[in-house]
Amino acid sequence: MVKGRIFSGMQPSGKFHLGNYMGALENWVKLQNEYECIFSIVDWHSLTSSFEDTTKLPDNIFQMAVDWLSAGLDPEKNVIFVQSQVKQHAELHLLLSMMTPLSWLERVPTYKDKLQQLGNQGKDINTYGFLGYPELMTADIILYKADTVPVGEDQIPHLELSREIVRRFNNLYRPIFPEPQVYLSKASLLPGIDGRKMSKSYGNEIPFGASPEELHAKVKLMITDPQRIKKSIPGNPDVCTVFTFQKLFNNDQTQAICSSCRQAQIGCVECKKQLAEKMVTSLADIYNRRLELEAKPDYVREVLAHGAEKARKIAEQTMAEVRQAMNLE
Ligand code: TRP
Repeated sequence: MVKGRIFSGMQPSGKFHLGNYMGALENWVKLQNEYECIFSIVDWHSLTSSFEDTTKLPDNIFQMAVDWLSAGLDPEKNVIFVQSQVKQHAELHLLLSMMTPLSWLERVPTYKDKLQQLGNQGKDINTYGFLGYPELMTADIILYKADTVPVGEDQIPHLELSREIVRRFNNLYRPIFPEPQVYLSKASLLPGIDGRKMSKSYGNEIPFGASPEELHAKVKLMITDPQRIKKSIPGNPDVCTVFTFQKLFNNDQTQAICSSCRQAQIGCVECKKQLAEKMVTSLADIYNRRLELEAKPDYVREVLAHGAEKARKIAEQTMAEVRQAMNLE
């Protein structure tokens, strides 16, 4: 039995890495068997903070589609599409913007935080579009009358706003929209190779779809217990990034590795070699599918075109109801 309808999206920022996969996409792949799912590459959202240089956008969108498909999202089971290919998102965003008080948008905590954070990096995004980020997100979700939205914790305030906007619309005109609920994705436990949060801006990321050689090279660079300067000194797995990865990729061996590290029986080189081999095996399907898909760009574009067609049908039905409720043609 289908549990409900899911909508979620990701910005094609060109920064997708293994941490993003384990934090979100892996979860989507599971959810596709339980819910009716609609997943969108939200290119308009990425313009809200990077609108000057759009040259990389087409490639970033393509790469994100390849990431999603190679992770195992099934284009037959789900609707997978690019936001800007379904213009109804813009129409609903416009109509919702008429009834959304400025103060609601201004008080979203992520708004001021990000404005300041990017301001500190010398980037001015004091724009109308950026303020409307959660407004566009609301349009994305309710255009499909989705009731469930798998996102990370950082998106909770956006969903709270979405529900307020929905209540306002439903009260003013007609109760068309369900109030969308958050389905919280657990934060990824995977750190970057230096032990900090994995992020492309720290340069500590492992790319999603990395080749076996790349995986070996990244694991070699991982930071281990800094006190353990030679093999004969017992190590402390609790402060070792390699061990954190072992727990995620080599679960059967975790106990054994932990005790032999503490007894100085296994050295870091050997421990890293074991980890890299495990990672290569467990990520092999993704890597191979990625190679295949990159060689078939026409197929990937077809999947997106077909997805947009399916999305448009649902979106147009909703918009017909919205226009009627608001006495528009
Ligand atoms: N804001 C989301 C993020 O950065 C991306 C997004 C856009 C989204 N529209 C959405 C997520 C609709 C869920 C539903 O992660």
